[in-house]
Amino acid sequence: MEVVITESPEAGGSLVARAIADLVNSRATPVLGLATGSTPLPVYDDLVARFDRHEVSFANTRGFALDEYVGLPEHHPESYREVLLREFVNRVDMPDDMLFTPDGWAEDVRQACHDYDVSIADAGGIDLQLLGVGTDGHIGFNEPTSSLASPTRVKTLTEQTRVDNARFFDGDVANVPHHVLTQGVGTILRARHLVLLAWGEGKADAVAATVEGPVTAMVPSTALQLHPHATVVVDEAAASRLRLREYYREVFDGKPDWQGI
Ligand code: F6R
Repeated sequence: MEVVITESPEAGGSLVARAIADLVNSRATPVLGLATGSTPLPVYDDLVARFDRHEVSFANTRGFALDEYVGLPEHHPESYREVLLREFVNRVDMPDDMLFTPDGWAEDVRQACHDYDVSIADAGGIDLQLLGVGTDGHIGFNEPTSSLASPTRVKTLTEQTRVDNARFFDGDVANVPHHVLTQGVGTILRARHLVLLAWGEGKADAVAATVEGPVTAMVPSTALQLHPHATVVVDEAAASRLRLREYYREVFDGKPDWQGI
C-alpha cells in the first residue's frame, strides 16, 4: 500500500486530481468510482479548476457512485446522486446520464443492486475508485462485520455513521436514513486502483487501522491491504497515529506510483 502524507487536504486533493486528469486523458472511455461526503471535495474542486483551464474533459467519462441512501424523496439535495451532480458532474462536461448511482428508489432493491454490479462490469470495470473512510472504518457504506467479498447490497447504517452524517441533515440524526445501497467490499476490490483519502484528527484511528492493523471485517477499510494497487492519501492530522509515518514519508512523499505494479 502506498501512503502519501500531504500538508493539507487541498494539497492531497490536487495530487489525486492530477492523477485522475492524467488517467482520463489517457483513456478513450475512462471509468471513475466516485465517493461522496466531505472528504473528496478538494479533489472535485481541483478537477473543476483543471476543466476550467481546458486541461481535461470528462465528456467520455463514466462515473459510478459508491452508495445511495434508501428512503429519501427522489431529488432530495442530500441523495448521493444529487450531491455528485452538484459537486462534480454539473461543474464539468460530463453528461448526467454518464453518472450511475445505485437505485435507492427501486421497488426491487436486490435486483437493483445486482444490476449495479453488472453495469460496472459492462463498463469494463472501474479504473480508479475514490474512497473516504468512516470513523468506524467503513468504505462505501460497508459497516463493521461486512463481508470482505460482498457485492452491492442493502446495508443498515450504524448509529455512529448516522451521527457522523447528521451534519448533512440539519444536524438532526433523526433525519438521516437508516438504510443504504452500497457497493460491496468485493465490488470495490475489483477496481483497478483504489485511492483512499482522509483528512483530520477524527480519521487518525481509522487510518492507522486501515494501513497497519490486522485485516478484519470489523474494519472493512483494511480490505485495501488485499488489493494490489491501493494508495492512501492523508493529511498530517489523519496520519498522526501511523507508526511507520516517517518511513512512508521517506518512501512515498509526493511521488506515489500511480501506474501501479
Ligand atoms: C461516501 C461514502 C462513505 C464516506 C465516509 C466518510 O460515498 O461511501 O464511506 O466516504 O463516510 O465521510 P466523510 O468524507 O464525510 O467524512
